[in-house]
Amino acid sequence: MRKELIDPFNRKIEYVRVSVTDKCNYRCGYCMPEQGVHPDGTHTEYLSYEELARIIKAFVNLGVAKVRLTGGEPLVRKNLASLVEEISQYDGLEDIALSTNAHHLEREAEALTKAGITRCNISIDSLRKERFKNITRGGDLDKVLAGVDKALEVGMKPVKFNMVVMKGTNDDEIEAMVDYGLQKGVEVRFIETMPIGPAGVSMMDQHYPADKILARIKKHVGADLIPASGKTHDGPSRNFLIAGTNTKIGVISAVSQHFCETCNRVRLTAKGVLALCLGQEDSVDLRTPLRNGVTDEELQQIITDAMLKKPEKHFFNENVHNIEFRQMVQLGG
Ligand code: GTP
Ligand code: 5AD
Ligand code: SF4
Repeated sequence: MRKELIDPFNRKIEYVRVSVTDKCNYRCGYCMPEQGVHPDGTHTEYLSYEELARIIKAFVNLGVAKVRLTGGEPLVRKNLASLVEEISQYDGLEDIALSTNAHHLEREAEALTKAGITRCNISIDSLRKERFKNITRGGDLDKVLAGVDKALEVGMKPVKFNMVVMKGTNDDEIEAMVDYGLQKGVEVRFIETMPIGPAGVSMMDQHYPADKILARIKKHVGADLIPASGKTHDGPSRNFLIAGTNTKIGVISAVSQHFCETCNRVRLTAKGVLALCLGQEDSVDLRTPLRNGVTDEELQQIITDAMLKKPEKHFFNENVHNIEFRQMVQLGG
C-alpha cells in the first residue's frame, strides 16, 4: 500500500508548495518590503534542482499527489522546465501546478507545458496599467496579459487568476475582474490580505472581507452563485459557479473565515526549510540532513516525523513575523 502523511489532527498531507526562489522581479506591497528581502542568500544557500527534486520525490513516495511551484517568482529562476521534466516522471504525482506573476510567461509557457506543468495560477491585482505598476512597484500589465493569452493558447488548464483585494487600492475593480474572467473563461479567486511577514501585516488596514466581495459579485452578475465542490487536492479557495455560465469565481478568506481544518499542505522554502503552516513558525530544516548525505529512507522518515509538528491552525499573530524565512515572498504564498 502507498504510504501516507497524516498529521496529529488526522489531516492527510498531499499538497506541497515548493518555493524555487525567494527573488521576484515585482515587489507587491503585501508580499515584500520595497527594498526586497535582505540579506539575499548566497548561491549555495539555495537548494539546487537536484536537491529540490530529491525532496519532492520523497514526498511523492509518501503519498503527495500535487506539487505547486512558487517563488518569489518561480520564472526568474533559469530553466525551471528542467525541474518540471524531472518531477513529471514521478509515479503518483498527478498534478504539477505553477503560481506566477506571468511577467515571463509568454516566453516560458510552451516549454513548461511540454515539460509537464498542468495548470497555472496568475496574480493580477489590477487591469489598469498605472495602478498595476504601482501595486507591483514596477510591473508591466501588458506583459502579464500577453502571458495569460499564451498560457491559454498552449493549453495550460485550468488557468486561474488571483486578485488580492485591497480596500481603497483596487476594490473598485472586483466587477472588472469578474468580467475579465468571464471573457477569458477563467476562474478568478479574490483573496483577502493576510498578515504574513512585515509586508503583509502592514496591509491589514486594507483588508476587505470575502462576504462583501461575494455580495458585490452577485449583484454585478445578476445571477446566483452556486457553491461548487472542490477536487480532492484543492487549495483553500471556496468556489462558486456563476449561474448560467461555465465560469467559476472563488474567495480565499484566510482571515474572515479560515480553512485550517481542511489543510492538506506544507511548504518548502528555496533554502530547504519545511514550513508546516503559513501562519505559524513550526518548521524543519531539510537542507542540512540532505547535504550530510541522508539516505532516501532517512529523508522520508524526517519528513514523516516533521508532520507531527504541524499545528492545528494559524494564529496570524505578530510574534511569528520576525523569523528569517517568514516573509510571504520567501514562503511562496
Ligand atoms: P489551487 O491549487 O488552484 O487551489 O491553488 P492555491 O489556492 O492552493 O494556490 P495559489 O498559489 O494560487 O494561492 C492562492 C492564495 O491562497 C494565496 O494568497 C496563498 O497565500 C493562499 N493560500 C494557499 N494555501 C494557504 C494556506 O494553507 N493557508 C492560508 N492562510 N493561505 C493559503
Ligand atoms: N495576503 C494575501 N495574498 C498574498 N499573496 C502574497 N502575499 C499575500 C498576502 N499578504 C498572494 C499573491 C499570489 C499568491 C501566491 O499569494 O498575490 O497570488
Ligand atoms: Fe512577486 Fe508575487 Fe510577491 Fe508580487 S506577490 S512581489 S509578484 S512574489
